[in-house]
Amino acid sequence: MVRHGVLSAHLMLLQLYLPVTMASVPVPRPPAHAALVVRSLPTASAEERERILEDVEYNVFAFPAGLLTCDFLSDSGTSAMTDVQWAALMRGDESYGRNWGYYCLLDAFRDIFERGNNRQNIIERVLAGKTDVEFYQTKLLLSSEGGLVNGGRYQLERPNFFILPQGRCAETLLFSTMSSMIAEGYGSHPEHGKPTTIISNGFFDTTGANAAVAGFQLQTFTQPGLTDPFPHELIGKKNNFKGNLDLTATESYLKENPGKVSMILVTITNNWAAAQPVSMANMRDAAALAKRHDIPLFLDACRFAENAYFIQKFEDGYADKSIAEIVQEMFSYAEGFTISLKKDGLANMGGVLCFRDEGLFAQRYEGIGMLLKERQILSYGNDSYGGMSGRDLMAASAGLYQVTDQSYLRNRIEQVQSFAQKLHANGIAVLSPPGGHAVYLDMDHFFFGCNRKLEDFAAVGFTLELIKEYGIRAAEAGPFGWAYDLKPSQERVKIPNLVRFAVPRHVYSDEHIDYTVAAIRDLYDRRHTVPNAVITRGKNMKLRHFSAGLKPVPVDPAINDTYLGEASRQLGHLSTALGQDAAAVDELTKALALATGEWGKTAVRQGVDQAGWVSGVCNDGSPIEYSVSIDQSSGKAELRFLTEAQPSQNTWEHLTAAALRVNEDIAASYPISLERFNLIRDLFMPTELPSTDPAKMAAWHSSAWSAAKGPQWKIYLDPCASGKENALSATREAFHRLGLKSGWGLVESILGPDDHVIYFSLDLASDADEARVKVYVAHGGADATSRSLVAEVAQKHVSICPDADAFEIQRFFAAMAGDDFGRDDSTPRKKSLISCFAFSSKTGERPVGTVHFPVDAYVSDDAEVKRRIDAYLASVGASATARERYAMVIAATQRRPLRDGRGIHAWASLKQRAGGKRDNTFYLCPEMFGPRPRL
Ligand code: F0G
Repeated sequence: MVRHGVLSAHLMLLQLYLPVTMASVPVPRPPAHAALVVRSLPTASAEERERILEDVEYNVFAFPAGLLTCDFLSDSGTSAMTDVQWAALMRGDESYGRNWGYYCLLDAFRDIFERGNNRQNIIERVLAGKTDVEFYQTKLLLSSEGGLVNGGRYQLERPNFFILPQGRCAETLLFSTMSSMIAEGYGSHPEHGKPTTIISNGFFDTTGANAAVAGFQLQTFTQPGLTDPFPHELIGKKNNFKGNLDLTATESYLKENPGKVSMILVTITNNWAAAQPVSMANMRDAAALAKRHDIPLFLDACRFAENAYFIQKFEDGYADKSIAEIVQEMFSYAEGFTISLKKDGLANMGGVLCFRDEGLFAQRYEGIGMLLKERQILSYGNDSYGGMSGRDLMAASAGLYQVTDQSYLRNRIEQVQSFAQKLHANGIAVLSPPGGHAVYLDMDHFFFGCNRKLEDFAAVGFTLELIKEYGIRAAEAGPFGWAYDLKPSQERVKIPNLVRFAVPRHVYSDEHIDYTVAAIRDLYDRRHTVPNAVITRGKNMKLRHFSAGLKPVPVDPAINDTYLGEASRQLGHLSTALGQDAAAVDELTKALALATGEWGKTAVRQGVDQAGWVSGVCNDGSPIEYSVSIDQSSGKAELRFLTEAQPSQNTWEHLTAAALRVNEDIAASYPISLERFNLIRDLFMPTELPSTDPAKMAAWHSSAWSAAKGPQWKIYLDPCASGKENALSATREAFHRLGLKSGWGLVESILGPDDHVIYFSLDLASDADEARVKVYVAHGGADATSRSLVAEVAQKHVSICPDADAFEIQRFFAAMAGDDFGRDDSTPRKKSLISCFAFSSKTGERPVGTVHFPVDAYVSDDAEVKRRIDAYLASVGASATARERYAMVIAATQRRPLRDGRGIHAWASLKQRAGGKRDNTFYLCPEMFGPRPRL
């Protein structure tokens, strides 16, 4: 009977949950392909890969691909071809003149780039083996002219289509031929001088290098805002086409440099700008602009199909158009284009250069077709194959059709998008929205707070560690690749700090992506241990990333700075984490210099000086603590620090003198008042200590800065300084002297036998109305996690604080305790809960209450605290800003993996203000003396 009862209860639960669960999991997109042939992956160990890395001078390009699990070095030539392409490959013929591949490729280009929905698909007849004489006469040899691919005799008379082994060969051929014709007086408008500049929304590195070698000046005008944040929730819903050409900059350059520009080259998608797409409107406007200035507009069309998909999905007016129509319109704006078939040709090799027959380009460079053909034959092969095998021509022809398939493209773009989203969900920042063929990790964010300079090449260290530990290859696209160390300072600021994960087409499944995300997450968690890198050979080589030698450099975890230097650095990071401006950092650093005085200028010790005064400001003895208070809904934050003046000698006399000196120093530099402090000083700073109790502190000072209020100083005092038994009476007296008699009455009314007054604090504001008085009460008698204690504390707040809500307090404590409630008996095993009651004369006599939970005493490590806080913030519906700020604040403070110990998080608190506003404050230890071990 009992079992039956349990079972039916379970069934009831299932009935309750099942429909909800089923409804909440959407069916994912249908898969677009299945595997036909598979390759087993190697099983090398990290040690083995490390030895290989050493053998290849730590150059990721030189690492053997056969020893990798996932290779994201490039999406170029790395596609797994479809079965149709493999079938087409078998139909390739290797004749030296006019093989099937030649005809198929030319007509595939007409079909894909010019015919829109009216494709002829002649490749199907070739694949089916039905190429009789009539087919040659009516299809393959048909004469056509005026477009991007002349046919029949026109291709002989006015060649405008050139097959090449890959994209860069098309670039070399184009730019070198243009350049030599310009030298002979071609290319310019009759009234203008020699054109020598090419403008682009972004040159791929070989493209730019080829143009530069041919003597062109390069002008890159990418639409501003590439690295601007993009709302995460809009990924997949909106796109702002960050790859666009900056038309304003282009136009003003054209006006200022009439006749100087030979070409506008629009790269689609923009590989230089993190694979971002270019909108149709931008291409249309760029074409109109080029036309007004009599300049040919070309496309670097390597990833045309991916770009077309972005237009269809995100640009107004294109949702109902087919990819074929969109591609047709895109290319209608171009005078010509270069393409590497290794990308959106789905092929492993191939490139093409073509231009509009008798168009502007053809007119400017009269006869260039013949010249190009001569050079093509000289360098690559005759026009039938241009250096490609007949088989590869067939594979690329078939690939061009397959790459424009709607479901293929959706699967492709969404795979890259979900890769980016999975990284984001793991706290790893990527350039957003994600682009077409690659995900770019934001390495400034990755190493935020880790003290890495750009010239440390930490992003290279990351790629080396990723290969070593996980057999995953990605490429740095940052200070190393872009030669930061060799550039003048005005050029340096333009260099991004990224690592590219280019996703090969058709090769990886979600399993590979998940493995990679987990590996990146692991390195992120221990980013403080990721090595830097130095160049050991080839620093000055062009495109040095392909061939330079490098070496990883382990990072020294020791602090080699003064207390002030180190804390200023961390405050700077914290301030950045909270989106504050430079003025805030300046003010806080100034205040810190004042509060830390002489001892702040001394070097941080390797460990606590047990013979000296050990500060209680932090659990590890660090004399400086940071705290950040964040409004749950707006994310508005305040940053503060707390210090304890360090005495030159370990005596009470020296300790009090040091604390009082800080008071004087603050008063000398800031508009504060010590009047109220002087009223109560004798209660908390006796000239002599009672012999029974050791001193906990003389006084601590804290400083906050906000744009609205400027600097705000506060002093913390010890109610037990004249003996524990006198704490209550000293506090009562202080409240009386400060005119807050009935306020204290409220606090005293809720104190039970296990409640102890442990701190007293006073704002040093000169405006007495603004200045607050705070009293801190420790609730002893049980664990901070004890359910009954928490309920009791919540009730105490509700009874005296008008804005307190018992449910919110209990929810906060439950989350901080990890929902693991402690014993209700009266033997406290760990630290106590603390309540703080704040009074100001302005708000009358009812206090604002704050509850503090001693997180570090109830977890094994800081990773666990972070998990709890993240979960809490999610459960209370905190805004994305609030949650991101908390995460960044931890990143700014930690100097080791969170899982390696506890103590970065000391306390977490909840303050409830009028109108249901809630702030959480996180009290953070700088761990000057190293982490405390896991519990
Ligand atoms: N243009 C763009 C936009 C490219 O991305 C590339 C190659 C080329 C031209 C050159 O083509 O390799 O066939 O000679 N990009 C590859 C990459 C190498 O990894 O991004 P190619």
